Amino acid sequence: MTPDVRVCEDVADLAERGADAVAAAIAAAVQSNGRCTVALAGGNTPRALYETLAARFAGNLPWTRVHVFWGDERFVPSGDRRRNEAMARETLLDHVPCPPANIHPISGDAASSAAAADEYEATLRRQFSSEWPRFDLVLLGLGPDGHTASLFPGSSALDETTRWAVDATAPADPRSRVTLTLPVLNSAALTFFLVAGAEKADAMRRVLAGADARILPAAGIRPSRGAVVWWADRAAVS
Ligand code: 6PG
Repeated sequence: MTPDVRVCEDVADLAERGADAVAAAIAAAVQSNGRCTVALAGGNTPRALYETLAARFAGNLPWTRVHVFWGDERFVPSGDRRRNEAMARETLLDHVPCPPANIHPISGDAASSAAAADEYEATLRRQFSSEWPRFDLVLLGLGPDGHTASLFPGSSALDETTRWAVDATAPADPRSRVTLTLPVLNSAALTFFLVAGAEKADAMRRVLAGADARILPAAGIRPSRGAVVWWADRAAVS
């Protein structure tokens, strides 16, 4: 199947078009399901999109029906600015009326990253009644090495078939991570990759060509009953 790639002029264009698409997905999910469950991406690329989403849609989306999760997190103490949660609060969640009870961060204060993963899975089980949590929307980034969320090349996390969240190790600081697993990510109804920069072009091209997920984990994102849209700037598709 031909990948759905939306080429954006630059990061600003990606942010604007991506924010409009995220808003539409949120509205559609609430309309059809009564709520929207979204797993946010971390890193830097989503920042501008989150800021645009807050600026444009703080007052005209059903935020009280939106439940916010994360695809992965750096296992550093709550309040540490390196957390994906910190970035999302700074750019989006502190600027929209999403109830605190609807925001489900991955713990940074558990006894270990494995314990944090278990706690996060327990949170997911409370929030989802299905056999697998089916997120209405998952936002993902792409690393130059083909990683996505905190699923890194060669990681044993790539082989996980039963746990919903696991601890993982990144090749760069912060090394200790918690990540959703491929079965959960592949249960999503809609997945948006957010990719910007020439340094991602090789990985993106190889993933779209059908690379081995053990080598380029983003290639493992193949939802059985869901759509994948790549929002990429011109540099990333060069
Ligand atoms: C993280 C993210 C990670 C990120 C990619 C791309 O915790 O950093 O989960 O998977 O999405 O590394 O990051 P950029 O968008 O900053 O290039």
